[in-house]
Amino acid sequence: MFVEQRFPLLKIFLWSLVLCFCGGVTAATNDLKATYLRCEYKVDPVIDAPSPRLSWILKSQRKQQTQTAYRILVASTPNKLSTQLADLWDSKKVLSDKTFQIEYKGAPLKSRQICYWKVMSWDKNDVPGEWSKYARWEMGLLDTADWKGQWIGLDLTALGKDSIYHLPPAPYLRKTVVLKDGIKKARLYVTALGLYEFYINGARIGKDFLTPGWTDYNKRVYYQAYDVTSNLHSGNNAIGSILSYGWYAGYIGYAILVKNPQVKSFYGKVPALLAQLEIEYNNGETQTITSDSKWKANYGPIEQTDILQGEFYNAGKEFVGWTLPTYNESGWKAVEIIQKENRTIECYPGNPVQVTQNLKPLSIKAGDKGSYLFDMGQNFAGIIKLWVKGSAGDTLLLRYGEMLNPDGTLMTANLRMARATDRYILRGDPDGEVWSPRFTYHGFRYVEATGLRQQPDETSITGLVLGSTTPDAGSFQCSNSMINQLYQNIVWTQRANFVDIPTDCPQRDERLGWTGDAQIYVSSATLNKDISAFFTKWLVDLNDAQLSNGAYPDYAPFPPIRATDAFSPGWMEAGIICAYEIFRTYGDTRIIQKFWPNMEKFMEFLQQRSGGRYFFAERSFDDIVPKGGFGDWLSIGKKTAPDMLATMYFGYTASMMAEMAEGIDNHDRAIYYNELARRIKSAFLKHYVLPNGEMKCDIAEYAKDRTYSDEQGELSGNTQTAYANAIYMRMLPDSLIPSAGERLDKLVKENNGFLSTGFLGVKALLPALSKTGHTQTAYKLLLNTGYPSWGYEIENGATTIWERWNSYTRNEGFVAGMNSFSHYSFGSICEWLFQNVGGIKSDGPAYKRIIIKPEIPEGGIASAKASLNTMNGEVVSSWKIKKNMLFLEVKIPVNTTADIQIPTQNYNTVSINGEKHGKVSALYASSVENGYVSIKVGSGNYTFSSEIKK
Ligand code: BGC
Repeated sequence: MFVEQRFPLLKIFLWSLVLCFCGGVTAATNDLKATYLRCEYKVDPVIDAPSPRLSWILKSQRKQQTQTAYRILVASTPNKLSTQLADLWDSKKVLSDKTFQIEYKGAPLKSRQICYWKVMSWDKNDVPGEWSKYARWEMGLLDTADWKGQWIGLDLTALGKDSIYHLPPAPYLRKTVVLKDGIKKARLYVTALGLYEFYINGARIGKDFLTPGWTDYNKRVYYQAYDVTSNLHSGNNAIGSILSYGWYAGYIGYAILVKNPQVKSFYGKVPALLAQLEIEYNNGETQTITSDSKWKANYGPIEQTDILQGEFYNAGKEFVGWTLPTYNESGWKAVEIIQKENRTIECYPGNPVQVTQNLKPLSIKAGDKGSYLFDMGQNFAGIIKLWVKGSAGDTLLLRYGEMLNPDGTLMTANLRMARATDRYILRGDPDGEVWSPRFTYHGFRYVEATGLRQQPDETSITGLVLGSTTPDAGSFQCSNSMINQLYQNIVWTQRANFVDIPTDCPQRDERLGWTGDAQIYVSSATLNKDISAFFTKWLVDLNDAQLSNGAYPDYAPFPPIRATDAFSPGWMEAGIICAYEIFRTYGDTRIIQKFWPNMEKFMEFLQQRSGGRYFFAERSFDDIVPKGGFGDWLSIGKKTAPDMLATMYFGYTASMMAEMAEGIDNHDRAIYYNELARRIKSAFLKHYVLPNGEMKCDIAEYAKDRTYSDEQGELSGNTQTAYANAIYMRMLPDSLIPSAGERLDKLVKENNGFLSTGFLGVKALLPALSKTGHTQTAYKLLLNTGYPSWGYEIENGATTIWERWNSYTRNEGFVAGMNSFSHYSFGSICEWLFQNVGGIKSDGPAYKRIIIKPEIPEGGIASAKASLNTMNGEVVSSWKIKKNMLFLEVKIPVNTTADIQIPTQNYNTVSINGEKHGKVSALYASSVENGYVSIKVGSGNYTFSSEIKK
């Protein structure tokens, strides 16, 4: 969408040259190898999609390699598969270059069915390759009727009330079961309203945290499925579970802070477990053990437990051996059956939250009141592992913070009402004791431990980094250490906030799936991690939360934590923008199909709101809080008129809808949305842009209502954010783009080369400068270290991206109140690092056609490398400057084509793989444009050099 479409005919001609060249080489053998076989974006998963989508990545040593056909076999056993006996599906030879989003079209799949599959590909010469190794997927429980158990729990809500918080203890549930000889296979299907951990015979099952994840529990809850065959044996076995309140019954967001009448238990008060253990014996018999009235319950060591407030654990109250069959449960009560109305129970589609890294403290300092301050060296989200020796009853208090006060003490003011405190009471084991909280997490760099008897060392506290296990996708690095730190800060902030849902921040009483933050950052997120499964999950949350008027809400899931929270321009469009980015990055059309009616409803809402005028005039959103919406949130200086931004988002989402409609072959709707986008752009132009291209708004109209100027400062149409978005969102006719670029460049220069953008402006700023030929101004913004800039944060020790440009300043210190040091919105510069510095872009969906076009700075960075694992395989662009020469190395995956644009001053100095361009140009279609030589290639590794300075 953002790729320039100049000279389309020339392009077609050039591509045909490439294809001629590709077809001209013959090879008798096929070295195509299908690797990384996935189903529904996962390796060997348990799923419940009735027609799962399969994908693989092709590898080949040959250049310009493509797949011309494939064949998939799916069988019910590995043996059948190895003898080509595809009893579930034989796709037969399909003439297609597709390697992903291929729907299974075999025999209908049943609950619990295991499917083994493999694939082979024909290469560009129609030579068949070898079969891949086999992969598998397993069907979970497809029907609510598959669930035979009852929701069980223990109502402890009468306990744990203090003046501020109500934190009852965690229920423990257990049961002894007798199994027969000859266990062949066992599966545990388990979920909870609240959070759960599950144990069998002394072992914790799985390594997932915060299960089953956050959903609108009134509509749906997810379950996890675990292979527990090796945990069971014949005879007596014990199964058990610990429950916590979690998002279901615990505290959420700032409800206490804003004095909401309800502050917790937004979905229910008593957490409940639903579990089903299914055993298959060698003789074909099956046995199902479910959560039911025969389980026993108790409470003890976990005295308080809450995601935001933390966990209090009293090891003196431990139930030693409670998950072993030998345990004497005589003191335990019968569980309560918790009546729950129906809701959908589905298999968890996301990536589970797990410990992804352990961190050792960088330093330990003694404080004045007998406390110790551990500096973990990195701001992150997670928990700690404590290793401690002491006497029974010793009490350790653990507090967490991101920053230190000027006097060196822990800064917790920015946590607001999140208590974020853990407590551990020792049982007094002479060999020492190890503990981690289970059902909470914190956003922190520093831990303050009070109550340690002995001088701690680096083994006393380990940081356990928690986050959704989104697989690695890209990486960026360059010769400038400040930029490398910036990139690492972006990645750490993403890791800290992709915790089951995309949160705004991990530390304070918030941690909500703010839609504005998500839509601003989503395309950056795709460059760091594979977020396909993660967003497949969150887009369900987002659509479940769609308001009855059609707007997507401020955050999702959307429990009623503040009555005035509703929707806002720049936030509510996340339902379109995030779906679009998942489509663009992964070629995912199912996500479009699935939410198409919801997305249309949202577009209808916008149209109605605009009163058929195709734009939003000043004060069109007087009825929401804050008036006009959040606008260019946390910008500096003059505020951009929010209705102008709302109009741009209207046009932007209409264009995305048109492209998505094409993606699902709905040509009528594509025409409709293209026409809508055209009308919006022309209305926008008429109302918000002067004939000379200057952007303006009716300030007098806003001035009539003081709330606007009080809340948003002085409003203007002539801001960095306004021009940046108009360029980025293609709201201007081609004739006005250069002048908009000039004005943007001028505004930055008039601001002494500094940005003034907030959440909505920052993402578009550098891309818009680049697009209009002001790359060097963009580099200036990137390389700045003065206030406000990314560099300023880094010079002040940031290890993550701050919420505000002025979260901390040397003159003013910390901003009071809302102030997080781990907020990814300003990390949306990541997009520009990959797409413009590294120069990797996708021309159309899923990086099938790649553009490599690095932009070279005049100073500050002498080399840069970006790499990205796409649905087609790895793309790499790596350049360095030596004297007046540029050296570029590029890797293009099999089955794709690339337009490699090599910056040069002199066309004749360009060489490809060591040969002068002039000599090899017959092999590669090429053209010269605006200081770039464009060379079309297929897959392979390439090196280029060119003179960039005289
Ligand atoms: C959140 C943001 C969010 C905003 C709405 C804040 O409290 O932390 O990131 O987008 O509210 O303006």
